[in-house]
Amino acid sequence: MTEVSPLLLGRLLELACRAPSVQNTQPWRWRATEDDVLELHPDPSRQLLVSDPEGRNLAISCGAVLHHALTAAGALGLRAWVDPLSPTSGWIARVRFAAGHVPPDARATLDGLAQRCTDRRRFTAWPVPDGRLLELAATASGWGAYAVPLTGRTDRSRLEVLMGRARSVQAADPRFLAEQQAWVDRGADDGVPTADASPPVTGRPVQHPTRYQPDLVDTAELVRSTEGLVLLGTTVDDRTAWVGAGQALGALWLAAHRAGLSVVPLSQVVEVPATRRVLQDEVLHGGLCPQLLVRVGWQQIGRGTLPRTPRRPLTDVLTHAVPGP
Ligand SMILES: Cc1cc2nc3c(=O)[nH]c(=O)nc-3n(C[C@H](O)[C@H](O)[C@H](O)COP(=O)(O)O)c2cc1C
Repeated sequence: MTEVSPLLLGRLLELACRAPSVQNTQPWRWRATEDDVLELHPDPSRQLLVSDPEGRNLAISCGAVLHHALTAAGALGLRAWVDPLSPTSGWIARVRFAAGHVPPDARATLDGLAQRCTDRRRFTAWPVPDGRLLELAATASGWGAYAVPLTGRTDRSRLEVLMGRARSVQAADPRFLAEQQAWVDRGADDGVPTADASPPVTGRPVQHPTRYQPDLVDTAELVRSTEGLVLLGTTVDDRTAWVGAGQALGALWLAAHRAGLSVVPLSQVVEVPATRRVLQDEVLHGGLCPQLLVRVGWQQIGRGTLPRTPRRPLTDVLTHAVPGP
């Protein structure tokens, strides 16, 4: 007799799929191979081929959904065993579930999974203490990934220069701009609604500025000195490492959310090969491969919430293996 009801697995997947993904592409598929086993597969048809030709952001997104699935499982009272990716397998992870115990902090965890979101509105000028960043970094260092808080003035100004350079490279590439645009206001299931998006930085005046919330118009441009910056890096640079960086991102984001902090990834500087190389050499001093930069800050207290980004229905994300003859 199976110990895990389909209803519970459905709830688990709904929470897992609230995970962050690049441009809300949700580039994953789940496959139920037995009543209590789920496989996580990448969905290459959702890869951003211009900005992410190697599939790094895709794999990071899959790592985040895996992290959220395992976190949801724990909070829903399930135990989980994970077979990680092997180079020959098509899947990213195979997870077997069994009944366990609901932990005392389950409610807070489930709320965090359901409420976490990317809020790109300008952070308040309230500084994020270095100690807080170090705590977050400790939570997010695992799965083969390291979270490095960038608190030194030299590193931060180097980073600002690199971010500016990466933005200029991408803004000059019409293929990149078209790809970005294709994932804004895309529809009911995926992509980023204008209500949540910052306008693309093109070096020219913003087109249709009234489409965007005033609070979001200049937020892609600057990093304030009071904002926290954390760089996720790994010692190796392959798909397993990228998935690990995604799991670290999931952990960092949920811990930040619990502490009342807002997180916004900034992937451009890693997406452009030239700035990624300098980031690795001059900021990480060759030790780690940069995977994703995130900014961390406080949103104004009492501010209204932004509309939630949509998600694909479970019927689209989950398939059931056909039983054999
Ligand atoms: C690998 C990765 C890269 C991302 N890069 C950026 C980015 O450069 N700028 C940004 O504003 N958001 C970025 N995001 C956030 C996504 O756009 C966001 O997670 C997605 O739209 C879903 O929205 P939600 O986080 O509010 O649920 C990134 C997320 C991931 C996982």
